[in-house]
Amino acid sequence: MNTQFEPGSPPPSADFVPLCIPELRGNEWRYIKECLDTAWVSSVGSYVDRFETELAHFVGAKHAVAVVNGTAALHISLLVSGIQPEDEVLVSSMTFIASVNAIRYAGAWPVFIDSDPQTWQMDPQQVLDFLGKECESRDGALWNRHTGRRVKAIMPVHILGHPVDMDPIMEAARRYDLVVIEDATESLGARYKERMTGCIGDIACFSFNGNKIITTGGGGMIVTECQEWADKARYLTTQAKDDRMEFIHNEIGYNYRLTNVQAAMGVAQLEQLESYIAAKRRIAETYDAVFQDLPGLTLMPNASWAYSIKWMYTMLVDEAVYGMDSRALLRKLHEARIETRPLWQPVHLSPAHRGAFAMPCPVAERLKCEAVSLRCSVGLTEADQQRVIDVVRSTV
Ligand SMILES: Cc1ncc(COP(=O)(O)O)c(C=O)c1O
Repeated sequence: MNTQFEPGSPPPSADFVPLCIPELRGNEWRYIKECLDTAWVSSVGSYVDRFETELAHFVGAKHAVAVVNGTAALHISLLVSGIQPEDEVLVSSMTFIASVNAIRYAGAWPVFIDSDPQTWQMDPQQVLDFLGKECESRDGALWNRHTGRRVKAIMPVHILGHPVDMDPIMEAARRYDLVVIEDATESLGARYKERMTGCIGDIACFSFNGNKIITTGGGGMIVTECQEWADKARYLTTQAKDDRMEFIHNEIGYNYRLTNVQAAMGVAQLEQLESYIAAKRRIAETYDAVFQDLPGLTLMPNASWAYSIKWMYTMLVDEAVYGMDSRALLRKLHEARIETRPLWQPVHLSPAHRGAFAMPCPVAERLKCEAVSLRCSVGLTEADQQRVIDVVRSTV
């Protein structure tokens, strides 16, 4: 047996169960078969329309546009909301790199914001500090004193299924006339003070890749209240066709639309979303209950104003108290053929994003060192969860 833990390496044996397994126990086969039987397999079809309508209804948005993945959703959201090359977009440093890559695809620059130590989400106080102290208003716009670039938008990322504290961020955005693009890819169904994530900012994005709460294999969605932005998103994601008959294109577009087959899977998955959220929350409750007395572990936050979907159960390990550090625990779980993972490299430290302005991010750096994400698939059995619990407890 391979007992070497190498993050990102393939599973060392067949009984090694991955961190997140898609749950496909509803109408997926039936709806996809219908696409195959009718030959409606490509980027238009009734399931694309249904998926858009039903997802918009679920989150309470006016418009939804289905796209190939969450990264494309972010890219197009930046374009339709008017972000120009060389503009700056505030974004959490503690996020999956795709959020930041999308900013660069639009030719804009990230400004990295630290995490709030209580919620692990974008720190609203640091957003205010940056806008108030590091920027100046001139010619009707806001400029970063350090880079000389125009500050145009904020991209809060609701990581791990928990919402960002949005009220102070929205207030600041209105005060400084900034667009708010929510990266809600990890938080479909989460609520901030009774408002669904995805319906708080000006435009928002979801992802349906294999490890998300619902999956279409790969897929994404843009939601917005703004008809003009939704129309523009639909136009840009279908190669910006101005005259379909004559193939006239006045702008550079993208081939970013979701296929009917994937949308069929999305409709079936959406039918089960509430039960998936309930399962994630039940798994998290069990971890919370059994780990709460274990010294040296900080359990996943849940702010009083938050309804978290607990998409990825994550805890912090304090080596001095717990007796081993997060990487030793990762290795131990891996040796027991239990997949786990650390959090992402804070993006302000990524060589891929050299040259961007960053606020100090000590909390994000600590999260990177101490965080361990545990298995929490919707279909996780009690026995499998117990295997995880036994390893974590056995170290004390
Ligand atoms: C926070 C975050 N942003 C963006 C993405 C990109 O989504 P996708 O993989 O569908 O492109 C993901 C997920 O992969 C994510 O976790």
